[in-house]
Amino acid sequence: MDVNCIGILTSGGDCPGLNAAIRAVAKTTSVQGIGIIGILDGFTGLIENRVMHLGPRELSGLLTLGGTILGTSRNKPHKMPLPDGTYHDMTGAAIENYKRLGLDCLVCLGGGGTQKNAYRLLKQGILNIITLPKTIDNDIWGTDVSFGFDTGMTNACEAIDKLHTTASSHHRIMIVDVMGHNTGWLALSAGLAGGADVILIPEIPYKIENVLNALVERRKSGKRFSIIVVAEGAHVFQADHGSVNEEKNVKKKKKKTNFFPHQIPLSEKLATIIETEIGIETRVTTLGYLQRGGVPTPADRLIATRLGTKAGECILSQQFGVMMAVRGPDIVPVPLEEVAGKKKTVPEEHPLIKTAERLGVSLGVGA
Ligand code: F6P
Repeated sequence: MDVNCIGILTSGGDCPGLNAAIRAVAKTTSVQGIGIIGILDGFTGLIENRVMHLGPRELSGLLTLGGTILGTSRNKPHKMPLPDGTYHDMTGAAIENYKRLGLDCLVCLGGGGTQKNAYRLLKQGILNIITLPKTIDNDIWGTDVSFGFDTGMTNACEAIDKLHTTASSHHRIMIVDVMGHNTGWLALSAGLAGGADVILIPEIPYKIENVLNALVERRKSGKRFSIIVVAEGAHVFQADHGSVNEEKNVKKKKKKTNFFPHQIPLSEKLATIIETEIGIETRVTTLGYLQRGGVPTPADRLIATRLGTKAGECILSQQFGVMMAVRGPDIVPVPLEEVAGKKKTVPEEHPLIKTAERLGVSLGVGA
């Protein structure tokens, strides 16, 4: 088989570095005469046959551009929302359009959900698929890091830096609500880089009394302000239930109301408890989508470019059914079958956890 034409789509939440990755895939393949078609708005564009031409003009100036020129959506081929609120399996339409467009490979740039959806399509046995890992959450299994994470961490850290000066001036406690879905990579990394005093992540359910103790101790030592970084998916340990799995509760709610973890104001509740229990003025800042916006950092441009060019190489050597992954100094293709449906959480013994402990940063556990 010759590879003459490939399609590329971006799916899931956007993040900086997507355009840099599109550019890298296109540059690597177009020099070999392969045509490239941009598929709009994730898998929706594949199902509805909405595409754009990706020629030299469209591919120019992409390296530093945030977001995605292709648009994105969270829609899944096997579960497409219909106007009447029901869902329909449109896998057949996706396959038909792949054929109609004359594609020899579909490149999917996305997070954990996209890896799963790409694998579902792959299992149909008709499409050649290659994926790239993107997300500010850094929770994609099989890769040391995903592009978007460094920019998300930088954006969150810059915000924490700014909150430091106002926290210090007003002698307040600042709670910074950080994204990360159900993992703590973003909160832990940005929190450590920003010098947070307390960091709460989903992998380590916290006890309110430990947080309060840490804040009181800090004040006693003469520090008149504190910074608490809370991951959106963090949850409270409750003695009667063990760890309360906030994620499960959220999933239940999400089905009914389309809730996402960051929309539940856990940090607001925490602020109220702090003010009531220890009487220190507390403010909450939810960073939200600011973390996902703007120009990719040089590190993200580099990872996106390396992952994209490796994807190009795999296309040329016709190695399909793989996700490009960062492993130490290398970029390696990992079978999608191994990646799909898994999540990379922060291990209890991770060096970042150890670093936090050595620094005396409270994780809301312990005495
Ligand atoms: O996966 C990236 C992310 O920004 C998460 O951190 C967050 O939970 C989620 O997306 C927000 O999703 P949406 O863009 O659909 O509101």
